[in-house]
Amino acid sequence: MLYLDYLASTPVLPNVLVEMDQAFKSCYANPSSTHSLGLTANEAVQAAKEYIADKIGAYPSEIIFTSGATEANNLSIKGLAFANQSKGRHIITSAIEHKCVLNICQFLETKGFTVTYLQPTNQGIITAEAVKNAITNDTILVSIMHVNNELGSISPVQEIGEVCYEHDILFHSDAAQSFCKLDIDVIDMNLAAMSVSAHKFGGPKGIGFAYIRDARTCEIEPVIHGAGQQLDIRGGTLPSPLITGLHKATEYFKFNHDELLTIRKDFLALLESKGIQFKLNCENSLVNVINIQFLDERVSNILSDSLDICVSKGSACSSREIKPSYVLTAIGLSIEEARRSFRLSFYDESLKILVRIISNDC
Ligand SMILES: Cc1ncc(COP(=O)(O)O)c(C=O)c1O
Repeated sequence: MLYLDYLASTPVLPNVLVEMDQAFKSCYANPSSTHSLGLTANEAVQAAKEYIADKIGAYPSEIIFTSGATEANNLSIKGLAFANQSKGRHIITSAIEHKCVLNICQFLETKGFTVTYLQPTNQGIITAEAVKNAITNDTILVSIMHVNNELGSISPVQEIGEVCYEHDILFHSDAAQSFCKLDIDVIDMNLAAMSVSAHKFGGPKGIGFAYIRDARTCEIEPVIHGAGQQLDIRGGTLPSPLITGLHKATEYFKFNHDELLTIRKDFLALLESKGIQFKLNCENSLVNVINIQFLDERVSNILSDSLDICVSKGSACSSREIKPSYVLTAIGLSIEEARRSFRLSFYDESLKILVRIISNDC
């Protein structure tokens, strides 16, 4: 089995599993309960909030746990849009956001909001200039992802944050693919909200968080109404063992840029040395992501047909669809080029095994 799909999901890190195992055994009480075991569970929740908040320059009270980035995007975008609609009803996002953001925006359009979907550059980047040009008097919210989940392209969120600051507009960023990989400072980036998911960096599935600026006082509509948990912003009993998993993954996950860059360069050099023709769809991506077209149809067929080579055609959520990726066509690829493109995401030397398989079989 060759796993090259770490952007879709990662295995839980071994030391995170150990910590979660202990948490499931000892932290099973409801963190809202006032007895000693409840207090122990609550301590684990508070420790996670403090650790995560410190990593992004936020306050612990601004971390709202969710089931993952999809829910954090729902809370951030719908929550801020509904609560601020008296100020305006225009939202700016991009045509290459994760499908869940696009669906949230389409839903908001049915509720009377208007949405501008910015087109990316041919490298999958949304520029601050494009955001600036799209602002109207009615704009209340900008939502632009940090790292694109298909290309690994990195948009200049700090510059976009500055534009939003100058125009007094709320700025949300989907950081599901950048948290723990790139530096994030919510103040420097002028973020009003941000979405993160634990299973993208060695944590368990089913947990993530939304950073919500000034969560205690800001105007935001809950998406999940509950029994008063998490400042009434997100209801539901807090899953403390999962939160410990998120906390420990944040602590233990290592993203070694230089090592990954070497693996990337070695892989591309090896392809060249074997005469395997390819074209990169994004040159300056996050270092452990390669979105690549193989020009020899036999190579594409190997990657498409093998169940034991885990790579992604387009994005994982839509890879079973026959349609070509909307992200790849948005950066100007033809349907044919999009169809022969693959996303390889890696943390180790497995890429070399891929070259061996491809060159043996062709
Ligand atoms: C950029 C981006 N946003 C949101 C999501 C959804 O995250 P989750 O699986 O935690 O709901 C993903 C993962 O597929 C993603 O890559």
